[in-house]
Amino acid sequence: MRTLRLGLVLVGFVFCCVSSKDVYVFQGIDECEYSKEDLSDMVYRVKLVFNQKLLCSYDSRLGKYVGYDEYGIKNADHFNSQIWKMKQRKEELETLCRADARFYVNSTSRKVPPIVTVRSTEKAHYGQLTTLVCRAYNFYPQAINMTWLMDGLEVTGDVISTEFMDNGDWSYQMHSYLDLELHRGVAVSCRVEHSGLEKPLVIQWDSTSLDTRIAKLAVGCSFFLFGLIVAFSAAYIYYKRQHRGFSSLPLF
Ligand SMILES: *[C@@H]1O[C@H](CO)[C@@H](O)[C@H](O)[C@H]1NC(C)=O
Ligand SMILES: *[C@@H]1O[C@H](CO)[C@@H](O)[C@H](O)[C@H]1NC(C)=O
Repeated sequence: MRTLRLGLVLVGFVFCCVSSKDVYVFQGIDECEYSKEDLSDMVYRVKLVFNQKLLCSYDSRLGKYVGYDEYGIKNADHFNSQIWKMKQRKEELETLCRADARFYVNSTSRKVPPIVTVRSTEKAHYGQLTTLVCRAYNFYPQAINMTWLMDGLEVTGDVISTEFMDNGDWSYQMHSYLDLELHRGVAVSCRVEHSGLEKPLVIQWDSTSLDTRIAKLAVGCSFFLFGLIVAFSAAYIYYKRQHRGFSSLPLF
């Protein structure tokens, strides 16, 4: 059986009059009630309540006000005779109830998955303390979980700090910072859980820039060593040749 979705939108106003002894409360309550997603069964009610006693109410299914006591009946008759008011109530089923409900239905079902990046805040070096930042942005709704993983194991404690931002445009962003000493071969990743994602998103920190730097250094060193060897060999061969040249001359 399909579960029944029940929406209720309340738009109310309250008058409150304080005398020396008692508190009198007059309430005007607008209710929009529906159970179908297409909002086809929307019912609009307007209630006038005085000290918790219902005086009269408008029901969109009846298309008029009904009174419940002498004062309420008088008011209902008066409202029903006001053509502009009855026209307005009729329109409000659409302009107030369905419009609001569409907004709420959309906002509860709205899901935008986050975009996630992992970077170091400054130029990182192996063996040095570095801060990595995992940025999740452009997501909706607000609920999100961000965790750091080192070689697949969750990192906890005060090495992590977070920053949450409401962009004010139906999207949020969250930054999670991790302070750590980088080590070669240790995979650091950021895991993000969000209702807009089918499964948690795991983004590994890309250490290639660091590794390439080391690789470049290694290649540079190799070339230098190679050059040194070549130079020494050449010098040695030259020396040998010269030496032989000099020493062998008297033999001929
Ligand atoms: C709700 O979503 C529907 C379909 O995505 C769209 O046509 C409609 O304009 C939205 N309503 C509001 C109030 O955002
Ligand atoms: C975040 O983690 C908590 C605890 O594990 C879990 O109950 C919740 O559903 C998670 N939230 C999201 C958006 O995945």
